[in-house]
Amino acid sequence: MSGRDSEFVCQGCGHTALAWTGRCPGCGEWNTLVETRRREPRKGGRRGGRPAAKRDAPRPVPLRDVDAPAVDRLTTRIAELDRVLGGGLVPGSLILLGGSPGIGKSTLTGMALGNLCASGCRVLYVSGEESAAQVRLRAERLGSDALAVPVLAETSVEAVVETLEAERPDVCVIDSIQTLSVEGMTGAPGSVGQVREAAGAIMEAAKHLGTAVVLVGHVTKDGSVAGPRVLEHLVDGVLLFEGERERSFRTLRALKNRFGATSEVGVFEMRAGGLVEVADPSARFVSEASRAAGSCVLCAMEGTRPLLVEVQALVAPTEIVPPRRVATGIDRNRLAMIIAVLARNGGPSLAAADVFVNVAGGVRVDEPGADLAIALALASAHRGEPLGPADGQPLACFGEVGLTGELRFVAHPERRVAEAGKFGLRPVVGPESAESIDGLESMATLAAALKSARGTPAIRRAA
Ligand code: TYD
Ligand code: MG
Repeated sequence: MSGRDSEFVCQGCGHTALAWTGRCPGCGEWNTLVETRRREPRKGGRRGGRPAAKRDAPRPVPLRDVDAPAVDRLTTRIAELDRVLGGGLVPGSLILLGGSPGIGKSTLTGMALGNLCASGCRVLYVSGEESAAQVRLRAERLGSDALAVPVLAETSVEAVVETLEAERPDVCVIDSIQTLSVEGMTGAPGSVGQVREAAGAIMEAAKHLGTAVVLVGHVTKDGSVAGPRVLEHLVDGVLLFEGERERSFRTLRALKNRFGATSEVGVFEMRAGGLVEVADPSARFVSEASRAAGSCVLCAMEGTRPLLVEVQALVAPTEIVPPRRVATGIDRNRLAMIIAVLARNGGPSLAAADVFVNVAGGVRVDEPGADLAIALALASAHRGEPLGPADGQPLACFGEVGLTGELRFVAHPERRVAEAGKFGLRPVVGPESAESIDGLESMATLAAALKSARGTPAIRRAA
């Protein structure tokens, strides 16, 4: 091994240096030098120059003449995972599975490999983080299928590639890409240069062997050790496994998928015997929803599936300037926008209050349809009165709030209302839509929704 096999390339201007410096001598930017393996200069020409020997230019082919054999997907028999993948793993594809440490990435991949192995696939589990004995201990909790998975405890990329060539598995899991190191590179495992080279070498081997590879990567909350992020453009799919470690719910979503939609979400629960799919998450969240002030049920859409979650808000007077705005499970900027719109449209002014908004159950909602629920929860928390009828169910709602206080249409209102109806949540407050929907109490503006939520729908209907 020698340090000479690598050089440091600026990601901004392409300047190369033999040693790392904090500031690029070429463009003056800070922290842009990344270690890269030195490539052999191309034969038959100077670096970057034209090839000396003239050869025929390759001919482009019309797309309809391109051979595209239909391939069978490899199903992991974990329905939630298969759905997020777009119907199973595509042979030869490269998937990045990211998530914070301890979220359950090794458990999920271990279970998937166990199932694939039981259905006759050749599989390989490469563990760079844990010893083979530790992997076995986990597999014992997951059942006999997981114990049949062949494991390789290895951190050298060259050794992993050799094993791939020799074993030719259909599916291989690398747990994790940050522990692998490439020969001849001086950076620590997990550094941007190492991660990129290691993934490149594995991808090259996997593509010609037709092996589907799942690269496991740790993504920390602050993104400081976010090595795997640099792989996002390289891989065919990026799955993110999220949830709060202390809570048992986990959501799996696709950020990128060349072979399916990115809108699907899988919901899991961590139990003593591994991850269990939650086929009907709405039922769980609705039964846990409280009737307290500051709480309401949001009819969200997670991909093609409606999902009811509880949105909770707390408003507390403060003298701190600027007051605190804490958002868990929703976007912070969205919260700031809603607080501003509320103050202008018949809602309370929260300029002198700390505001906390939380989506219960550790779920993350990333759609604008959550706006109305946040606004109503905030108004209710500020007044200290629960929403909806005093005796019955919590209030359910959805809708995007515009900057001028109008309620805007969001996709699939009928599915949202129907899902709420399943749990007896009626009527649902939401934006107006073209067709009439049974059970929807439609409102044109946020001010109207605030007014209506103050009264109790059940009493108003009786009157
Ligand atoms: P793990 O899959 O090792 O997380 P990651 O690979 O993402 O770092 O597991 C995370 C946690 O899950 C760990 O703290 C123990 C717990 N766990 C269970 O609760 N039940 C189980 O069956 C298993 C295998 C793990
Ligand atoms: Mg792990």
